[in-house]
Amino acid sequence: MLYATWPDGEPGCAGAEPALVRSRRRSETGTEGVHLVRRVVCPGSFDPVTNGHLDIISRASRLYDEVVVAVLINKNKQSLFTVDERADMITEVTREYGNITVDKFYGLTVDYCRKQRIPVIVRGLRAVSDYEYELQMAQMNHRIAGVETLFMATNPEYAFLSSSLMKEVVKFGGDISGLVPDSVHERLMERLQGS
Ligand code: PNS
Repeated sequence: MLYATWPDGEPGCAGAEPALVRSRRRSETGTEGVHLVRRVVCPGSFDPVTNGHLDIISRASRLYDEVVVAVLINKNKQSLFTVDERADMITEVTREYGNITVDKFYGLTVDYCRKQRIPVIVRGLRAVSDYEYELQMAQMNHRIAGVETLFMATNPEYAFLSSSLMKEVVKFGGDISGLVPDSVHERLMERLQGS
């Protein structure tokens, strides 16, 4: 059993250890010990998840104890897949990593972080064009809530990938094999080509 308690104040506040949540794990023999659980969140639209997202999620899962993939419920944006469909696809393709939790959230990412006691956001950077917007968000998130953002350089193999581009290519019959997991490829074909 895992009991999570926040060490010193809220995420990112002075005195708190970034990315660390102190928790008490009861072993199978009944002995208790203190274990530091490092949790991060990978927030996004994931409409749908691509191999570029998975590159970042899988690398984060090797660096941290727990990675929460949080799917944004965006009522102002028309999406191809419902938020439940997007979350289900992510759950299916990340099962093998063993330390991923998939969740949905509405509103500010930092409010989600506060509620879930997650002090760090992980975001992938594909190119310089991502940098300006991501930097602005990271600075705002730090300013309003003290939440840190860690950037991970996307594998160059996936640097050109985006969910919107995937949808456009599939819609007009282009080949996206190897760019999204097979199960996601099938869902895209079904939804966009009716096959
Ligand atoms: O996959 P995306 O669309 O690039 O993800 C963007 C996302 C969801 C991380 C970003 O839009 C976000 O955090 N939205 C929630 C509202 C919010 O917190 N906005 C940023 C304020 S600085």
